[in-house]
Amino acid sequence: MSAPAGRDIARAAALLEAGELVAIPTETVYGLAANAFDPQAIERLYEAKRRPRFNPLILHTDRLERVEAWTGSWPSGAKALAAHFWPGPLTLLLPRGPEISDLVTAGQPRVAFRIPDMAPTQELLRRLPFPLAAPSANPSGYVSPTSAAHVAAQLGDQLAYILDFGPARVGLESSIVGFGADGQPELYRPGGLAIEAIEAVCGPLRRMQGAGESVAAPGMLSSHYAPGPRVLLGNIAQHLAELPAEQVGILSFSTTYPDIPPSRQWLLSPSGELAEAAQRLFAGLRHLDQPGIAYILAEEVPERGLGRAINDRLRRAAAER
Ligand code: TXA
Ligand code: MG
Repeated sequence: MSAPAGRDIARAAALLEAGELVAIPTETVYGLAANAFDPQAIERLYEAKRRPRFNPLILHTDRLERVEAWTGSWPSGAKALAAHFWPGPLTLLLPRGPEISDLVTAGQPRVAFRIPDMAPTQELLRRLPFPLAAPSANPSGYVSPTSAAHVAAQLGDQLAYILDFGPARVGLESSIVGFGADGQPELYRPGGLAIEAIEAVCGPLRRMQGAGESVAAPGMLSSHYAPGPRVLLGNIAQHLAELPAEQVGILSFSTTYPDIPPSRQWLLSPSGELAEAAQRLFAGLRHLDQPGIAYILAEEVPERGLGRAINDRLRRAAAER
């Protein structure tokens, strides 16, 4: 049976205080939240997601002073990013403070923190004396949820409550930035904050991504974000010519294909806008993960702004499993 869903912030707070798991909305994707200071709750969270224990969690709170209190001394450069982009779709890797346990960092020397840009969630976080650990609310390895219905469909029976404030506005997970020993800013995951915007504040980012090589950010594993059907990335018309039409679904940026039923097509953005495409990407992958569809034919979007994170997710979805 699926957990109840609603807009009751007080109820969500009480359940989290009691060590329960609650799905929370954020502007990026829905998170599966637990008290970051409660080892049993964190244990249940890893269990519910079937998440490998080596993959650390992002902590969420409502204001800068609390992030500062829960972290050690910040690399120069981190302050400017926080000042510019928090609240927002940016996660910073910071030296951990003494209260942060190995359970949430998976033994890493740094802890990931973010202040989400969503009023009801900020209200929830404000009421809590602890940060919330919240990975995306999907089973490990599957597409992230951008609505309460997505959460309920897969993890509904593992949660106490789903705080539902509608579809996620950004639709891609946060961009993750850390700093190297030399002080250089490093991008661990492209996400809902455009790389160009980050670089305008902190200068060029060293790219840390690479097919599964990064122990520092295991979410970068190449097969992450994969739905059930095989995702074929490339020229849609060309793939279409080579495959049985009744077995394909289409995830196109802005083109409709007259020979394929509308129920098996998902337009990311009819007007060709990257923000809209980002917002609709994960819902599209989920929609096309339907019986009868063996192949999802997808195409890359322009490689700029949020397009870079969209293409990153599409490539991971298409990676061999
Ligand atoms: O937008 C988001 O970031 C969403 C919402 C709910 O806030 N959360 C999210 O969490 O995407 P998750 O667990 O699905 O992805 C977190 C990523 C993983 O790739 C993890 O390896 C990386 O962050 N990460 C977390 N803590 C880290 C740390 N201490 N050092 C390096 N990477 C870390
Ligand atoms: Mg995730």
